Amino acid sequence: MVKPRSPRTHSFRFLATAGSALLIAALGLLAVRAAAGTAAGGVPLHELGAEHGLHIGAAANPALLEDNRDYRAILAEQYGSLTAENVMKWDTLQPERGVYDFSAADTLREFARTNDQRMRGHTLIWHNQNPEWLAEGDFGPQELRTIMREHIDTVAGEHFKGDIYAWDVINEPFRDSGGRLRPNLWLDTLGRSYIAEALKAAHAADPDARLYINEFGIEGRNAKSDAMYELASSLLDQGVPLHGIGVQSHMEVGGVPEDMTENLRRFAELGLEITITELDVSIEMPASGAELRTQAADYRSVVETCLDLGDSCAGVTVWGVGDADSWIPSWFPGRGAALPFDEDYAPKPAFGAMQEALGG
Ligand code: G3I
Repeated sequence: MVKPRSPRTHSFRFLATAGSALLIAALGLLAVRAAAGTAAGGVPLHELGAEHGLHIGAAANPALLEDNRDYRAILAEQYGSLTAENVMKWDTLQPERGVYDFSAADTLREFARTNDQRMRGHTLIWHNQNPEWLAEGDFGPQELRTIMREHIDTVAGEHFKGDIYAWDVINEPFRDSGGRLRPNLWLDTLGRSYIAEALKAAHAADPDARLYINEFGIEGRNAKSDAMYELASSLLDQGVPLHGIGVQSHMEVGGVPEDMTENLRRFAELGLEITITELDVSIEMPASGAELRTQAADYRSVVETCLDLGDSCAGVTVWGVGDADSWIPSWFPGRGAALPFDEDYAPKPAFGAMQEALGG
């Protein structure tokens, strides 16, 4: 699945203002230079990953591509796969019914094209970040089904077909904890078949894309991962086009479950691929040196889990580039330092640990 790529490093030339996708593409071009070594040191993560057939990626945010040259340079240099952190969710893509806005997502796509990166699609069906017209529309089953299919056709088919190697078709279908499906607009109106219907619609829209259910809290063996296993088995038994399980992996320092490899292996044995889709490891601030070292061990252990799964693991994506752009501090006040680069985009021990785990 990984195509050969040329080595990339970055130049720090920076254009201060950029508004259009075209300009971002030009900025991306400035970030491409064939030379050995990187600013962060060593061989880029994506190249190390490619040697194992893994996509090493990061969640990306087009607004930061414009504003922050370090962010842009690291993204271009280290990562071979981009996931839109927010701009491919419903509220951005279809803010009004039938009115699509792909501008921010296209900025990211241009950056990815310029830097020879792949894209994961995130996300087609979720309970969060839905526009008001959808969340409060009180639609009946027939109309909601039509709305769902139109969105999937337009986004995964018409607009992004061929550019997205894997879609998080269903995001977070289970309750925060425990093994029951999450009550949400889709389940409440369409019943549990919304999952199979969305996967089939996505497959019709882009038959080459790998189709995922993406979830948090399923890293180790627990009620939620057991329920995911049951759901995945039953979808496969019914011939539903499900290809992979996204294991988000939002963790607290020292919190990688000991049974992560064993737990994920059972999904691989169903013939599914696994992607670590949203890795970060948060720390109570201020982070001590010891905690940063434990965090590095956590990153190493998650990458090693993916390697242990062999061909069944498609890659590892981290949820952001540096601690300054992570979602953690605003969602969990007092916690932070969750990513492999720090607030100033300098590499942390976690970055070195990922390199080493990949053989760098
Ligand atoms: O776009 C609005 C902006 O108009 C407004 O002025 C601003 C004021 O707060 O908010 C902006 O929206 C924010 C949005 O991110 C875009 O930046 C929301 O407040 C904020 O809550 C939202 O957070 C995102 C979160 O998903 C929403 O659920 C995070 O950035 C994003 O990292 C996070 O990503 C999720 C994955 O999609 C699924 N898995 C869990 C992961 C972490 O929660």
